[in-house]
Amino acid sequence: MLHPSGDEGALSGALPMDAPQSWWDRCLAVRDRLLASQRFQRWAAAFPVTRSVAQRRTRALFDLCAGFVYSQVLLACVRLRVFSILSDGPLPVAEIARRLSLSTDATGRLLAAAASLRLLERRRGGRFGLGPLGAAVVGNPAITAMVEHHALVYGDLRDPVALLRAGRPATELAEFWAYAGAEEPERLAADRVAAYSALMAASLPLIAEDILDAHPLRRYRCLLDVGGGEGVFAATAAVHAPRLRVIVFDLPAVAKRARLRLAAEGLSERVSTVGGDFFSEPLPEGADVVTLVRIVHDHDDDAALTLLRNARRALPRGGRLLIAEPMAGTAGAEPVGDAYFGFYLLAMGRGRPRTASALAALLRASGFARSRLIPTRRPLLTCLMVAEAAGA
Ligand SMILES: C[S@@+](CC[C@H](N)C(=O)[O-])C[C@H]1O[C@@H](n2cnc3c(N)ncnc32)[C@H](O)[C@@H]1O
Repeated sequence: MLHPSGDEGALSGALPMDAPQSWWDRCLAVRDRLLASQRFQRWAAAFPVTRSVAQRRTRALFDLCAGFVYSQVLLACVRLRVFSILSDGPLPVAEIARRLSLSTDATGRLLAAAASLRLLERRRGGRFGLGPLGAAVVGNPAITAMVEHHALVYGDLRDPVALLRAGRPATELAEFWAYAGAEEPERLAADRVAAYSALMAASLPLIAEDILDAHPLRRYRCLLDVGGGEGVFAATAAVHAPRLRVIVFDLPAVAKRARLRLAAEGLSERVSTVGGDFFSEPLPEGADVVTLVRIVHDHDDDAALTLLRNARRALPRGGRLLIAEPMAGTAGAEPVGDAYFGFYLLAMGRGRPRTASALAALLRASGFARSRLIPTRRPLLTCLMVAEAAGA
């Protein structure tokens, strides 16, 4: 059995309500009582040894309470193109105000907020320039696309309790990801897949190189990229591995977008596209490696098993499967899996972030062996699991 958070057997191992408390439970109960006491909090904030820890905790809790405000400051900067305006160098407030068509007062308020978040920096002479985080936004158009997209997520998460109670919610995200919950996804029309396909194509460059650095594909003959979207990963792989043949499989309307993009990039000879439903139709055969990039976490366990079994059938024994996506429980990025993707996918109405061990369990159940995690440069953005097609 898979635990909802992704760990095999975790639920069945839960203690009954009346189980005796361990000494560790009792220690934690004392700690919790202390931390909840306002007297203790005031003392810890003043006592030299505990002061810095107390200040960090206060800040962490404040940031949790206020994080949505920070996100809206970032959205205002993106919508007003503040980062691109400052990418040529720092400017005085009055000049920035003129370019933003805002009052000097409102501009000063926005710039001060953005500087406090390290998106911008105060420079000499009352000017503002890019800060370390704002400079990173300029270099990554994908971040801008995601910030704009988050306006939808923000609306859907307004009442998180209602969302938790809703089961399959009627949300903006469920509408946006048109395949989530579609009865016949292969019949989705071009206009229903355009927005999500464009967002995926814009954000893929953030992770494609990390995947290929972690597991270069030059050793393979033919790659099948399942749910390959507009073919951005396929094109990047084809450039990295000049002898690799690539097949992109996606819904017919998406595969058509991939065909046009790949033709425009002059890659049609080496990268072909096939349209279909990866749950109900056999996947193209002939590949010795299959990739699932940001696919499995979109689906509940039963659907994920069907997809993985289809991938197994498409591979020869010993062929490789690569799963690239953010995973729950990733050290240093815990909130990305369980909090961000946990709630994002809840709002979408399908799927869950999985731990590496939960994915490995799904892989075993669908005919793969020897699954292992391969380190990536930025596991926060994507982890990579590789598995081998086992014998029948
Ligand atoms: C989250 S996107 C990831 C796209 C791409 N791999 C990437 O990382 O940019 C999921 C992809 O799976 C495709 N997809 C969803 N359901 C599908 C189905 N039943 N059959 C084929 N493709 C499907 C979608 O059209 C979409 O392109």
